[in-house]
Amino acid sequence: MSSNLSSNYREIITVAMTGASGAQYGLRLLECLVRANCQIYLMISSAARVVLETETDEMLPEDADQTSAYLEQRFEAAEGQIRVFHKEEWMAPVASGSGAPSKMVVCPCSTGSLSSIATGASNNLIERAADVALKERRQLILVVRETPLSEIHLENMLKLTRMGAVILPASPGFYNRPETVEDMVDFVVARVLSQLGIEQALQPRWGG
Ligand SMILES: Cc1cc2nc3c(=O)[nH]c(=O)nc-3n(C[C@H](O)[C@H](O)[C@H](O)COP(=O)(O)O)c2cc1C
Repeated sequence: MSSNLSSNYREIITVAMTGASGAQYGLRLLECLVRANCQIYLMISSAARVVLETETDEMLPEDADQTSAYLEQRFEAAEGQIRVFHKEEWMAPVASGSGAPSKMVVCPCSTGSLSSIATGASNNLIERAADVALKERRQLILVVRETPLSEIHLENMLKLTRMGAVILPASPGFYNRPETVEDMVDFVVARVLSQLGIEQALQPRWGG
């Protein structure tokens, strides 16, 4: 498969879903990126699949290509718009600075993945892709979710923010008076989209 951006898409964005609570954030982000005509390079950790099955009625196929097809149908995406990579698919474009897109979001981001990214472990494709984003000084957004936070979590977040990553906690505000869980999910996803420079109409702008 080619790693080149098909001219149909505005840009390619790498998305990783890891095993923190909040699979809904990742699903909604995917949906919004599809609507915004982005192509998505997607990785889903094993723990993220467990969380997804716990928190939603979704049951993803094991196989990466089947997961692509499932999600493309789910979000009415074009064929090839969501490319799913296996955790040891080292030949994937995201594994190298020469092929990786300029923007990556880990949503949701577990404290385990946070730790691995902070140390440069690169033991799976998600960690490697994040390591590439850091070494290439590209955009890396980590939608971390845990509570309470230990000194280890806080140190890792401080370390990564100093390296240029954006720590964007899955921490919805209440000033827009959310009425549904979806409203709260949209609050966080709207912040991610804004960081990515993608116009969003999910939430009103402050003072707008
Ligand atoms: C239902 C469920 C909810 C979880 N919620 C969180 C969470 O909010 N934050 C977190 O850091 N880990 C959470 N975990 C634990 C992680 O999934 C676990 O540490 C895992 O090893 C992370 O692996 P990954 O980073 O490769 O996805 C949760 C696990 C399950 C099964």
